[in-house]
Amino acid sequence: MKLKQLESLLGDLEQFSNPKVELEQYPTGPHIASRILFTAHNSFGDVNGKVVADFGCGCGTLGAAAALMGAEQVIAVDIDSDSLKIASHNAEDLELDINFLQCDVKNLGWRGHIVDTIVMNPPFGTRQKGADMEFLHMALKISSQAVYSLHKTSTRDHVKRAALRDFGAINAEVLCELRYNIPQMYSFHKKREMDIAVDLWRFVPKVIEDMQ
Ligand SMILES: C[S@@+](CC[C@H](N)C(=O)[O-])C[C@H]1O[C@@H](n2cnc3c(N)ncnc32)[C@H](O)[C@@H]1O
Repeated sequence: MKLKQLESLLGDLEQFSNPKVELEQYPTGPHIASRILFTAHNSFGDVNGKVVADFGCGCGTLGAAAALMGAEQVIAVDIDSDSLKIASHNAEDLELDINFLQCDVKNLGWRGHIVDTIVMNPPFGTRQKGADMEFLHMALKISSQAVYSLHKTSTRDHVKRAALRDFGAINAEVLCELRYNIPQMYSFHKKREMDIAVDLWRFVPKVIEDMQ
């Protein structure tokens, strides 16, 4: 699929109708989502024929993009049932086969590296302190191939140190710096929209073989 076609399909998806600020519900726009999955597929071979999970899937844009780029199986996880309903409608509209799971990412009881690739736009940790790092820690535990994740550029050094030193990643690379557009969604937003600088990361997990 061509990049423009992917972006256009993602642009038609329904977004949060009553976003919950405490869960840091901000949409991952079609421009960013299409580029993440296009890069993961074309530059690294991390999508086509792979088991891909979308952590904190919200309305399911990243998971839908993974399915459209040929993932063998997509598992989309979110703590919020309202978001999962929207994500499920979006998958139906695009006739995509996606497995949805309502769960706190911290409490996933998955053992071993059971998915190949994880794509995620986690909470940045502004409302739930440390949430971004909890998502990354779990993602690096259960993926065997790669983790693609968005983090505020201002946290770059911290993210790199935690991934390599504390969470056992064998590589942590910023693929590009992006402008993340936040529309005026919450009452405390003073401007019509704003941009924040975010890094698109690709992490490579250390795979520990199961000896049993
Ligand atoms: C920035 S949004 C991601 C948006 C999503 N990629 C999309 O396209 O709609 C963060 C998401 O993480 C979810 N979330 C927050 N805390 C969570 C947790 N502990 N476990 C699972 N999901 C969580 C929120 O409900 C929200 O949907």
